[in-house]
Amino acid sequence: MVASQNHILRDCGYVLDAENAAETARLMLRDRLVNEAMGGVLPEGVEGLRLESILDLACGPGGWVLETAQGYPWAKVTGIDISETLVQYARAQAQVQGLSNARFEVMDLLEPLPLPDDHFDLINARDLTGLLTPATWPRVLHEAWRICRPGGILRLTEFERPISNGAAFMQLQELTRRAFQRTGRSFPPPSHHLGILPRLAALLREAGCGQIQQRAYVLDFSAGSEAHEALSRGYEVELWLSRPFLLDAGVTTPAEFDALYRRAILEMLDEDFAGLCYILTAWGKKVCPDPDFSERGAASSWPD
Ligand SMILES: C[S@@+](CC[C@H](N)C(=O)[O-])C[C@H]1O[C@@H](n2cnc3c(N)ncnc32)[C@H](O)[C@@H]1O
Repeated sequence: MVASQNHILRDCGYVLDAENAAETARLMLRDRLVNEAMGGVLPEGVEGLRLESILDLACGPGGWVLETAQGYPWAKVTGIDISETLVQYARAQAQVQGLSNARFEVMDLLEPLPLPDDHFDLINARDLTGLLTPATWPRVLHEAWRICRPGGILRLTEFERPISNGAAFMQLQELTRRAFQRTGRSFPPPSHHLGILPRLAALLREAGCGQIQQRAYVLDFSAGSEAHEALSRGYEVELWLSRPFLLDAGVTTPAEFDALYRRAILEMLDEDFAGLCYILTAWGKKVCPDPDFSERGAASSWPD
């Protein structure tokens, strides 16, 4: 597992082993909890917005795409991810659920995307913090802006490290923050968080979006809450899968990590455990500098 993790670290810069089956299960479960906490896949409301062509960047096992395809049956919803395994998994899910309007393709977000200019009505991206850096965010958003139609929407959702009353749980979060900082993944200045949430609106603005709006959500996974069991299990998996990244970054030792990990699991089982996960969604419109350009977008060769 460590060897394959290092391979992934080198090849796509993602901090977890995306191909691990436990990670797939964690992402599918978290997808449901997050959509519930936010009130749906597009809770901001899209009245008046033409939604025929939707793209999800780094879609993972496809939870957001599948639910969107179900909720917007007239729309073609495409998910792209670098992992062939996850794309195959997502395609199988679409088939089982009879969602012929959901489609999945293997693509690397860090390369120019083989997708036409000015095409998608809505481009969504959730939880890219583990794979993008302050240097690569602008490149990826520039590419997203290119393939979004004029008047279309770019929509980003990110998570901060969770907070809780578990001392070991919080120490592991602090190790993660330090590893992100040490590997150049967090936004300056160095602080107690990863720095992505306050930057979301600015990243959209710098990419060329206008009419930017934001909405915050919180997912409570304290003992006794509806999300407690599933999200605690999710953090158990996420923390364990982050072990090679933290060791590689030199912020902990195997003995220290393992002791903290065991204590954190016990803390999450405590009846007094309190935990919150903060989520921020920011979205903006692709503002077109050319007034003659149709809001309905350009003709394209991407098969709908
Ligand atoms: C934290 S998961 C997020 C999945 C999904 N967006 C969600 O919110 O459930 C990150 C995903 O990014 C994918 N990924 C990592 N590097 C990538 C790259 N260079 N291009 C495209 N996808 C990538 C991984 O395979 C993984 O599925």
